Amino acid sequence: MYNETVLDHFQNPRNVGEVENLSAVGRVQSEDCGDTTFIYLDIEDDVIKDIKFKTFGCAAAIASSSMLTEMAKGLTLEEAKKLTNEEVVDRLGGLPGFKIHCSVLAADALKAAIAEYEAKK
Ligand code: FES
Repeated sequence: MYNETVLDHFQNPRNVGEVENLSAVGRVQSEDCGDTTFIYLDIEDDVIKDIKFKTFGCAAAIASSSMLTEMAKGLTLEEAKKLTNEEVVDRLGGLPGFKIHCSVLAADALKAAIAEYEAKK
């Protein structure tokens, strides 16, 4: 059902956990299945210096979170805001159609974390 890239990111997820210097956290829960993703950001000069995640969800959600953290690290906040779940799915080489909603969690949690950071500023 999953391609090799998805399986790799599920079995060896990158950037799991919490950042040491927390600037903001975003939490999103799926309305479809109840699964939850947290994105933790360390932001310096409006650049994502470090990013980690915790996902309580399926293989597709974990792989999407892992890929998203790799894509977002080093981006400016403006660049990171434009990251979409479609781009994450593309970089993963695709997900089964009924699993696309799982990829939305990571992108939305990143946006929520950035929104929290900007609200605090
Ligand atoms: Fe819940 Fe995939 S089934 S995130």
